[in-house]
Amino acid sequence: MKYTLAFACSQDGFIAKHSKDNPFEWTSREDQNHLQTLINDNEWQVMGRTTHELNPNESRKRIVFSRQFSEIKQIKENTLNQYYFNPDLHQWSEFEKICSENILILGGTSVHDFFIYTELVDTIHITIEPYTFNEGVRAFSYINFKDYEPYFLSKDYSFEKKILNNKGTTLMSFNKNS
Ligand SMILES: NC(=O)c1ccc[n+]([C@@H]2O[C@H](COP(=O)([O-])OP(=O)(O)OC[C@H]3O[C@@H](n4cnc5c(N)ncnc54)[C@H](OP(=O)(O)O)[C@@H]3O)[C@@H](O)[C@H]2O)c1
Repeated sequence: MKYTLAFACSQDGFIAKHSKDNPFEWTSREDQNHLQTLINDNEWQVMGRTTHELNPNESRKRIVFSRQFSEIKQIKENTLNQYYFNPDLHQWSEFEKICSENILILGGTSVHDFFIYTELVDTIHITIEPYTFNEGVRAFSYINFKDYEPYFLSKDYSFEKKILNNKGTTLMSFNKNS
């Protein structure tokens, strides 16, 4: 089982202009292709309730973080493989029993915070789009955009950077050293 965290952000570190923003309106074709590859390569997705509700997709296997449920609960009666999970209450072994395959972590802020804090993440992909939002939803609550590279290098990740197009979209990838 491998954990991959991926997001796209502005060049000042925002993953959305506001909490109902749909990033597909500003992410590049190259980032959308990259995301599709990650979706194909990872059996399960994990995300916060807001991100799930903005992009419902009943064909995907999903764990949706929410504090509203005291039990691990199927999201819809007739939709298999989609569950609400509350990491404050539920055991991680229960999570890993449900998701026995590779896992793609898809935001938002406190879901990113949770997985970085737990040190479970093997690979982090950050696509930086050439826009400045000045405000919005931050990628992490406790890591500033200018600190991504030194922060993850200090956590024993190696780093690779690729320019994805001629507009300057950049992909930063961090891989945990084994
Ligand atoms: N650019 C990108 O790559 C990207 C990626 C993902 C999302 N987004 C955007 O980001 C915005 C949403 O992000 P967001 O940070 O506002 O919301 P979010 O993380 O998608 O959802 C927040 C909700 O998820 C639940 N949650 C989150 N962390 C939890 C935890 N540790 N334990 C239990 N429950 C937890 C809570 O649900 P309850 O209220 O039910 O308790 C919380 O209110 C949207 O605009 C979305 O499109 C962008």
